[in-house]
Amino acid sequence: MTVVDSVHPPLDWPAYGSTALRHPNRAPLVIPPTRTEATGPVLGERDLGPLDADLTRQHAGEPLGERIVVHGRVLDADGRPLSGTLVEVWQANAGGRYHHDLDRHPAPLDPNFSGAGRCLTDADGGFRFITVKPGAYPWKNHHNAWRPAHIHFSVVGRAFTQRLVTQMYFPGDPLFGQDPIFNSVRDPAVRERMICAFDLDATVPEWALAYRYDVVLSRTPFEEAQ
Ligand SMILES: [Fe+2]
Repeated sequence: MTVVDSVHPPLDWPAYGSTALRHPNRAPLVIPPTRTEATGPVLGERDLGPLDADLTRQHAGEPLGERIVVHGRVLDADGRPLSGTLVEVWQANAGGRYHHDLDRHPAPLDPNFSGAGRCLTDADGGFRFITVKPGAYPWKNHHNAWRPAHIHFSVVGRAFTQRLVTQMYFPGDPLFGQDPIFNSVRDPAVRERMICAFDLDATVPEWALAYRYDVVLSRTPFEEAQ
């Protein structure tokens, strides 16, 4: 099994119905990067606010739910830290509802929770978010389909063309077995990499539990296939 089909989910995955409409039907075209892609500006420190990484302090009051710390490091394939990397997260609230017009799940919206955050990694590649643990939510992929609790991640590398979008899951979720998105990563050992680790050392006593999630940016599936 190559890296392409053991690590990355197939673009067309029948168990996840929407991929039938979204996956490309033609082979990708090779468009050599120009200086614009390689040297164009990416988001800088001046564009981020001090509360962008604290999803519990973006409104007048605190959101409901279990407050947690989510932290980790962004590394390259050789284990070197990637500093200045834009890490963005988005998630449902503690009741399992997104602050989004298209979310019709009859769970309460939380006026104190937008569910989006971002930060730049520090010199050691580290990032740290304060948020609340997201709830599971139903979706219409199949009968009685529920997404395991998860936080969406986007990591932008040295240029906007270098972007990883993935999801972080929580240990021991009983919904893993019936979730086609989680299981679209077919190698069980690789799937485990999407599950964060409870991190007692990073827990803040009397205040919040903590989870660790390291992200390794490697070559793209397309590059692996060359
Ligand atoms: Fe989601």
